[in-house]
Amino acid sequence: MSAMKKMSLNKGLQKLVQNIGELGHYLWERGWAEKNAGNISVEVTDLIEKRGQAFDDYPKVKREISEPICGGRCFFVTASGSRMREIADRPEEKMIMMYICDELDGYRVLWGGEAGARPTTEFASHLKLHSFLFENNPSQKAIVHTHPSHLIALTHIELYCEEKAINRLLWSMHPELKMFLPEGIGLAPYRCPGTDELAEVTLTALQEHRIVLWEKHGCLATGVDVMEAFDLIDMINKAAQIFLLCRCAGYEVQGLSESQIKELKNRFGDFTQ
Ligand code: 13P
Ligand code: ZN
Repeated sequence: MSAMKKMSLNKGLQKLVQNIGELGHYLWERGWAEKNAGNISVEVTDLIEKRGQAFDDYPKVKREISEPICGGRCFFVTASGSRMREIADRPEEKMIMMYICDELDGYRVLWGGEAGARPTTEFASHLKLHSFLFENNPSQKAIVHTHPSHLIALTHIELYCEEKAINRLLWSMHPELKMFLPEGIGLAPYRCPGTDELAEVTLTALQEHRIVLWEKHGCLATGVDVMEAFDLIDMINKAAQIFLLCRCAGYEVQGLSESQIKELKNRFGDFTQ
């Protein structure tokens, strides 16, 4: 069998591969990437000069694509079952760079996709969210899903499994959240992983947020690049961690005082009331 055609990566794409590998290590070191937990996708159409028929020679994988706006666009996506900690060492087995066919009947593998790699089980969610971002917030090219332990723990506590309550808590644990994430986080009710239902509730929560907490599962964030998405998750997980640290040490948690909260509201906007 002849070797499959493979695109050589330009500098921008090489940098992206490097960043995703680095991010994979960060997620593993944080303890957020047990086994194959988490997935990443980045829209890279602008980084590739060729279009359409130029991709006809690349191997095609048949699959129904339900997002018309994704047709003719290129994505980097992590492979289902891939360990985050292994991406940097074996990027071509752990990622796929694909061109979504205009006919929406599949994708062409431009790079990676080796050893039988197939896109993440959350691919439907990712494409749905990318479609939304193209139309509403086109600078946001990257989507990162991971399992941040402290945030997930909070969604197992009934009191905090409510959007307003969890925002208020996180905000009171870390004043800089209000500066960098004035709109707060969205909270998506539990839905089975990898389903259209999960994609739907995520899309609803993403209308007004860059970061969505999946009840009893994990977190998903968007960014202009993968590191920006990571920073958002890292920051809010820190707030959750501070809260749980105090509780684990046996203390009642004081949080910011009412007047401190008021000052933040006046300065950065009022989203919690
Ligand atoms: P994948 O390995 O299919 O990406 O699944 C990981 C995950 O976290 C699903 O929510
Ligand atoms: Zn997950």
